[in-house]
Amino acid sequence: MVNPANVDAVVLVGGMGTRLRPLTLSAPKPMLPTAGLPFLTHLLSRIADAGIEHVVLGTSYKAGVFEAEFGDGSKLGLQIDYVVEDEPLGTGGGIANVASKLRHDTAVVFNGDVLSGCDLRALLDSHSENQADVTLHLVRVGDPRAFGCVPTESDGTVTAFLEKTQDPPTDQINAGCYVFKRSIIEQIPTGRALSVEREVFPLLLAEGRKVCGYVDSTYWRDMGTPEDFVRGSADLVRGIAPSPALTHQRGEKLVHDGASVAPGALLIGGTVIGRGAEIAGGARLDGAVIFDGAKVGAGAVIERSIIGFGAHIGPRALIRDGVIGDGADVGARCELLRGARVWPGITIPDGGIRFSTDI
Ligand code: GDD
Ligand code: MG
Repeated sequence: MVNPANVDAVVLVGGMGTRLRPLTLSAPKPMLPTAGLPFLTHLLSRIADAGIEHVVLGTSYKAGVFEAEFGDGSKLGLQIDYVVEDEPLGTGGGIANVASKLRHDTAVVFNGDVLSGCDLRALLDSHSENQADVTLHLVRVGDPRAFGCVPTESDGTVTAFLEKTQDPPTDQINAGCYVFKRSIIEQIPTGRALSVEREVFPLLLAEGRKVCGYVDSTYWRDMGTPEDFVRGSADLVRGIAPSPALTHQRGEKLVHDGASVAPGALLIGGTVIGRGAEIAGGARLDGAVIFDGAKVGAGAVIERSIIGFGAHIGPRALIRDGVIGDGADVGARCELLRGARVWPGITIPDGGIRFSTDI
């Protein structure tokens, strides 16, 4: 058994990912409100819940925003150190860069954009029982091409690490959470950008290090795309995704203080209404994420979509699987479907875009 108090957590945030960029400009992605809390709060509270006490947050950008929110970590029962990269160092460089802040011989490294229910104590125990150099949390997904594919032998030994390959040999993928022996982290080259997935893991396998997989089937979602962000948020609201940080009653909707929802508006599917947002009568919101100060007009329909801070959606507009940027104004009766993105501050006049001819 491993005592989690003798383990460091390393959380990676930043980097070059741009997939959510048009979503909202008001907050860095890991700080976006997710079921009412900055996204990272869910991960940090899970780390604290497992009994880990010391966290190093390795970031390549906007470190001040994280520090302003989480401070020394004491509110979450953690001690948080911050390490900032001058230039993005990639996932491997980001891990190597925190080495001097580690206090213990074992570290769990987390991709900062994953919502997961993995049992961290069980992961640590599996690492120690196998006397592994590195243990990777692995999950099975429908389409492994967007992830790191990680085949294993029947005893869990990892045989290859194939990052984002077109023809993955298995549906078992890297879940973005690894237990490392500290000595392995100290051997990662420093001073240059490198990828843990494309360089470090393949090298460790080539060197014959003991790299093991820990497979489970708990909740797991990478929140990096708008579609996943919307689903993950709804799953938190409905109680499908676990988070020790959430204390409110789980259900079909989460309406923040200071929001106004007219009688006759229908909120379902894990919809979140931010502070100061206004929802008019007859609106139907299903799995919607409405950020603070947004306004939704009478009879509008919003499904599986994100409405940015202070954006306006006109009466009887339809937004399905869309992302409306901060402060954008979508006119009455507009229809935006199938991944449509409206950039922050853009105005679309009443009836200005439709996917059907009926008025
Ligand atoms: N500090 C720091 N510096 N963090 C970084 C950097 C960097 O230069 N680059 C990326 N990160 C952080 C991201 O913020 C994210 O939390 C994590 O590292 C992974 O980066 P993504 O850009 O989200 O990668 P991905 O989702 O395409 O793929 C990764 O995650 C998958 C699981 O969600 C890989 O690890 C895959 O193998 C894995 O399957
Ligand atoms: Mg990701």
